Parts: sequence; structure tokens; C-alpha cells
Amino acid sequence: MVLEAVKALSPAEITELCLRHTLYDWGMQAGLKPMPVVSAKGVYFHTADGRRFIDFNSQLMCVNAGHGDRRIIEAIQRQAEQLPYISPFMAHEARARLGAKLASLLPGDMEKVFFTLGGADANENAIKIARAVTGRPKILARYRSYHGSTGSAIQATGDPRRWPNEFAGGIVHVLDPYHGIQRGWDTVEQALAHLEETIQLEGPSTIAAFILEPISGTNGILVPPDGYLQGVRAILDRHGILMICDEVMTGFGRTGRWFAVDHWGVVPDLITLAKGLTSSYVPLGAVGIVPKVAAYFDDHMFYGGLTYNSHPLGCAAALGAIQAYEEDDMVGNAQRMGAVLARHHRRLRERHPCVGATRSIGLFGCLELVRDRQTLEPLAPFNGTSPEMKAIAQALLDAGMHTFVRWNTIMTNPPLCITEAELDEGFEILDGALEIGDRAVRE
Ligand SMILES: Cc1ncc(COP(=O)(O)O)c(C=O)c1O
Repeated sequence: MVLEAVKALSPAEITELCLRHTLYDWGMQAGLKPMPVVSAKGVYFHTADGRRFIDFNSQLMCVNAGHGDRRIIEAIQRQAEQLPYISPFMAHEARARLGAKLASLLPGDMEKVFFTLGGADANENAIKIARAVTGRPKILARYRSYHGSTGSAIQATGDPRRWPNEFAGGIVHVLDPYHGIQRGWDTVEQALAHLEETIQLEGPSTIAAFILEPISGTNGILVPPDGYLQGVRAILDRHGILMICDEVMTGFGRTGRWFAVDHWGVVPDLITLAKGLTSSYVPLGAVGIVPKVAAYFDDHMFYGGLTYNSHPLGCAAALGAIQAYEEDDMVGNAQRMGAVLARHHRRLRERHPCVGATRSIGLFGCLELVRDRQTLEPLAPFNGTSPEMKAIAQALLDAGMHTFVRWNTIMTNPPLCITEAELDEGFEILDGALEIGDRAVRE
């Protein structure tokens, strides 16, 4: 047999073949120019044409441990050598160890998880479990939210990504405590009164669960006022409605605690995880379940299953990622560097008239840009963009920063291994690009 060496693809060929034969997420395909990425280390990634980018969004707020962490890579390698796949009806060591490890980290007395492939199907299964356990049909969710792009998860999503995907009922949306930069925040009392009223009008006995991101992510790093989550917990308890906290983005140290709910001491009935669970080196999601809910399935069928439930490579990667978080105290680093990030946010707000608001908790942050400091008119409309936001996004790339620019927001969510010097480097780039926004601000 003659073995032919596989010829490396040029950067242009990589991009061209990807575009010709694969569909890209959330966009019209014509005109796309995906970067051909070849390697990544720490907070940087490199393209095939030799450019280096500082990753100020941990890709999709998911590579929490940073790129190229040997502990995660070697955990996957060892597992691939030993047992790359086995049916979810079997027991295996990585599943056993990860289940036990998560039980020690998860809030309250949660000690059982159901493993999925990612965030959307974690939410699908959390919703399925809530409906099965309560026997109730409806799910409450918030408008400024994203829960994934599949069936019930996209129905529960409140933001405009839901609009073209609505094909079934059973989800009722409630307003968030935040109403956009111009109207600002409700008080805790107002937000809870709105929730209570919606529950009354819908009929408490028809509602299985309320699914919410404790801190909304892509909708603008919306850190709720103190007391809101505790108040939600109390209302739901009063009506026998389960609380599903979607920590797909906020979990695993992002906010400076293992889980966002830990900031407020709230224990949900179900928690959904993905992204940082493996630092996204391989796909894995999970639903954490409190004992009283999990017990239901002791003597009732669990009508759910996935070929890749508890996939050995996913479980091994998660163990490697958690090892990395613990050995390097990345959760503590997120808290310490979070203070540095917040300082940078304040400085940008002082220096740039286009920065209308900043929000952050740990290494989870965003800037909201405006074209008027008095009226706080956003620099791009809700669910839209503007020439200025596009120009800022391009300027960031040109200066070697990759981050998520959406509507009038710019995200600052670097990997949790970031150093102060690397944060300084990133904010220097932002500082330069924001001058484009300043020029659009009305006197
Ligand atoms: C809060 C939240 N929930 C769910 C999801 C969906 O996760 P996945 O893309 O892994 O299905 C996301 C993805 O961005 C998310 O941010």
C-alpha cells in the first residue's frame, strides 16, 4: 500500500472549503469570511496566515481554562486510549469520578446529574424533567435570555433568535428587571410583583418551572439587583413551581464563584451546565438535579436518553478542566482579575463619551455604547447594528482582538487564566477602537 502525505491546505482553501461545504451559525452565508484558525494557547489564538488575536470572549464565553491547557488535553488523550466510547447504559470511571466531583461543587445538596452534549439539550432535558415531575405543562422564561437553538430551548429563549423558530406553545415570557439602557432597572419589588402577577394570570397550577439565566449573558451581562434571585426562589416555592437556573455561560468560575447562584446563596431545583464544564475542549453538558426532584425517577420512568450521555471523552475533559480550575485557582483569579476588569471599565467610561454603561461580575462583563450621553440612545438599536458598531468590531480585529460585539454591546469575557498584563493589553485595544464610537456621540 502506498501512503500519500496529506497536503496541508492553504489558509484560503480552509476558508473556502468550510464555506462551500458547511453551514455557519446565525447568519446569511453569503459574504461570510470565517478566520482559518490553526492553534491557540492561553488567551491567544493564531490564524493560518500568521495573525495573533487576544481572545476577549473565550470564544463563545466557553474556553474558561484558556486554550491549550495540557491537563485537559492529556485527560482526553488518556481516555481516548483507554475507552473512547461506551453506551450510556454502562458505568465507567470517568463518569463515576465526574458525577462525584460535580456533587461536591454544585450548589446546596444537589448530588445527581444527567449528562448531555451541550447547553441546549441540557435545557431541553431540564424542561422535560420539570414537566414530568410536576405534571404541569407551562414553562416561564424571560425575554432577555438565550437558552439554546433547539426545540424547547429556543422557545424558552426570549430574545429575537426565538422569533423565526416558534412552532410550539407552552412557554410564557416575563419581563426582566432590566429594560434597556434608557429605561434601566426595576427595583427588586417591582420585578417580583411582575413575576407574581404573571403567575397569577397564567394559573400557578399550570406552570412547571421558571427557567432563567441568573445573570443573563449574551443579552448584556445583566447582573440582577441583590434580593431578586432570592425573591424569585421564594415566589416559586410558594406556588410549587420549579426553578431552573441556566448556568451554561455563568458556571465554572466565570463570575468569580463556581456558579452564579452562589453569589446569592440560592439553590435551584435544576441547574444546566455546558461550555466551561469542559472548557469546551470536547462537547458536554449536564443537568444538575436536587434530591427531591431526582427521587421522582426512582419509581417513575425517565423518558429521556442520548447516545452520547456521559460520553467518556466529555467526562474526562471535564475532570481535566476542573483539575485546571482548582490547581490554578482560576475561580479566585476570576474574582481578583474581575476587580481589575471593573477598574478598566470605569476608566473607559470616564474617557469615552460613547460608553454609556458598564457591567461586570468576575470576568463576565460588557460595555453598552450610546450616541448620546444625556438620552442614552444606544449606538445600535435593539436587535440591530449600525455603521459605528461595525467599524468598532473591525477596528478591534485589525488591532488583534477577538470579542463578541452584539447590537450596542461589546463583551469582555476573557479566559479565567488571564493575567493583569494581558487584561491591560486587551483594554488598550478597546481604548483605541472606542474613539470611533466617540466621534458618533452628539455634543
Ligand atoms: C445561557 C445559555 N444557555 C444555553 C446555551 C446553549 O448552549 P449550546 O450552544 O451548547 O447548545 C447558551 C449558548 O450560548 C447559553 O449562553
